[in-house]
Amino acid sequence: MFLNLLALSIVLLLVFLKYRHGYWKRRGVPHEAPHFPLGDFKEWRATKCFFEILAPIYKKFKDSAPFAGMFMAFRPVALILDPDLVKSILIKDFNHFRERGVFSNVRDDPLTGHLFALEGTKWRELRQKLSAAFSSGKMKHMHPVVVKVAEEFKKVLEEKQASAVGGVIEITDLLSRFTADIIGVCAFGIECNSLRNPQADFVVMGRKANIDRRHGFLLDTFMEAAPKLARTLRMRQTTQEVNDFYMGIVRETIEYRERTGVKRNDLMDTLLELKTKDGNDGGLTVNEIAAQAFVFLIAGFETSSTTMGYVLYELAKWQDIQNRLRAEINVVLERHKNQFTYEAMQDMRYMEQVLSETLRRYPIVGHLVREADIDYKTADPRFTIEKGTMVIIPVYELQHDPHYFPNPEKFDPERFSEAEIKSRPACTYLPFGDGPRNCIGLRFGKMQVCIGLTYLLKHFKFSVCEETEDHLNFQVEKIILQPINGIKLRVERL
Ligand code: HEM
Repeated sequence: MFLNLLALSIVLLLVFLKYRHGYWKRRGVPHEAPHFPLGDFKEWRATKCFFEILAPIYKKFKDSAPFAGMFMAFRPVALILDPDLVKSILIKDFNHFRERGVFSNVRDDPLTGHLFALEGTKWRELRQKLSAAFSSGKMKHMHPVVVKVAEEFKKVLEEKQASAVGGVIEITDLLSRFTADIIGVCAFGIECNSLRNPQADFVVMGRKANIDRRHGFLLDTFMEAAPKLARTLRMRQTTQEVNDFYMGIVRETIEYRERTGVKRNDLMDTLLELKTKDGNDGGLTVNEIAAQAFVFLIAGFETSSTTMGYVLYELAKWQDIQNRLRAEINVVLERHKNQFTYEAMQDMRYMEQVLSETLRRYPIVGHLVREADIDYKTADPRFTIEKGTMVIIPVYELQHDPHYFPNPEKFDPERFSEAEIKSRPACTYLPFGDGPRNCIGLRFGKMQVCIGLTYLLKHFKFSVCEETEDHLNFQVEKIILQPINGIKLRVERL
């Protein structure tokens, strides 16, 4: 009797799942036949990066439909192909696509209660409050702190270069320690000095936070496909080790700043200004503060350092562009009496173009995610995005579409002259997302990249060597675009 019931339940479940995989077919939306049980994502994290899964579907359907259907396991996903629809989702009709629908469980896994994952009023209020922390006024205050880390970075690279065989250095590791030191001091208020000490807990744990999973591949995919159910089941994402480490640092910093009254004008100061006085005033609890500092670390350190790595990789290949950028740096610094101020940084127009083109060619975050909160109608009734559908915007594919960026594999900063920018349709270039839920750390990210590059290019020349790869391959297990073998370049002192 029991075995019969079990067999019947399995058969019913399989029929139901098969029915779920018929969703796009019943709706008449173009799609590829889904694989059982992982849908379109069976090769993700095993042999392919996320963008490599989206690319063939984007190419196949982009000229015939505003979006294509996909499945994340059994969850229907709308892959948006038309930039006008992207604009409606991110900006015009943002109110219906406010959430990402990603996992968060503040009760059991406090570090997941951060801005990236929060929803509804909680997200809106927090976003409003935290925006002040990233204003240009605040950036100006933090600029000298970042410059100080860059000076140390220059010294460490000089020492490393002197002892490297043929001056060949793998640069991504060093760069990630540079940005970890910056976030450490600005968001957590601690001097972790990972530039000198590669095994500093802060950076080792930061990397673990980006890679280590509490569960295996299948449970992870389940949490991504059914985040609300995972929360109801009280599942957790952060490992205990990472949780204890960052909660510990934040508690200590808060205790120290409250006891001594020390003010540093950094991100932690802004978080402390928002801290609750009595638990009922709508302010942030210690757990909520820790979650925000944590997301500044995981969203802010490897994104910025890897971007710097890609800039140097392209500049090593294109010496004329490197020389032009170095000339700009020298001229601007001279104009500002050799004071590397916030204003001097903003005068570096070509730097901005080089950075923009790097983020086009290598968008660290290769896709954006939203969730529909109504049945969202488009001009063709077949293409209604039903409530609860996961929406994916293929940033990598849009930024490599020859229709918007001719000869897309070529590195060409001239694509970001004012005239060229104006000539392109909106929402085809999205390295920081767009609309009210874009990257809150955009200014901060650009600032640390710009300061780091200014110091590096003023004092060193970068070129390709035998160990430099012609084409970079990317790590499949990471959500951000990271080169498998790092980036090896020849570094010479100027
Ligand atoms: C080159 C550096 C960076 C890149 C390319 C980048 C890219 C992105 C992208 C694409 C998003 C999603 C936007 C969307 O869905 O529309 C995002 C969100 C976010 N980023 Fe960044 N980011 C960078 C640096 C930073 C830094 C330095 C911080 C913090 C210190 C930061 C904090 C965040 C946060 C908190 C969110 C979630 C915002 C929200 O949901 O309201 N990012 N970032």
